Amino acid sequence: MGYFITLEGVEGSGKSTLIQNLKEFVGSIGREVIVTREPGGIDISEQIRSVILDTKNTKMDGRTEALLYAAARRQHLVERIIPSLQEGKVVLCDRFIDSSLAYQGYARELGIDEVLSINEFAIGSFMPDLTIYLDLDPEIGLSRIRKNKGREVNRLDLEEIHFHKKVREGYEAVIKRFPERIVTVDANQEFNKVFADVKEVFLDRAKEIFN
Ligand code: TYD
Repeated sequence: MGYFITLEGVEGSGKSTLIQNLKEFVGSIGREVIVTREPGGIDISEQIRSVILDTKNTKMDGRTEALLYAAARRQHLVERIIPSLQEGKVVLCDRFIDSSLAYQGYARELGIDEVLSINEFAIGSFMPDLTIYLDLDPEIGLSRIRKNKGREVNRLDLEEIHFHKKVREGYEAVIKRFPERIVTVDANQEFNKVFADVKEVFLDRAKEIFN
């Protein structure tokens, strides 16, 4: 049986590094595991990603943005996520539907319900088995990004701090809707402690995959 875990959080919350560490950990307990990301993960969705995140696309309308994320998600789901789960793999995904709800639904003010409904068209009733939300003050996240010079800067990174604060509030609203599925981890701690907390959540919530 496969198991689908998503990681969520504001920019600079450490998702990408944590997901790689979690991958090694899941592999070390004998499960086949893949890491993927949104928007992207596969060819067509990476092409959509480059349109969405292109810093030149300053004219992009909020609904266009939300639809493109949903389109990239659909293709990623059918081409990569579902087949991997059917092969019994653990799938770790850097961002998924909750990013759309927090960024487009709440921060862009399109409405969480509206964005949920276009995503329902894209992915049906398919949802992650578990979502780990890395909670961090976006001021700290953005200052981490500025220090990490190798990281690409995308169109959403260029938004004002006010936008990123709204993203965090958006995640808080999304967690209230899906309290069973989403578990919060405090990302404002030393990296090893954050990873220890992520592992603990995984071991506690994903017990069924060890049977
Ligand atoms: P990425 O470089 O992957 O950023 P990060 O390392 O922070 O995950 O860029 C993805 C950007 O797209 C990020 O700013 C969050 C945003 N996003 C949305 O606004 N909606 C979505 O549905 C998804 C998946 C991402």
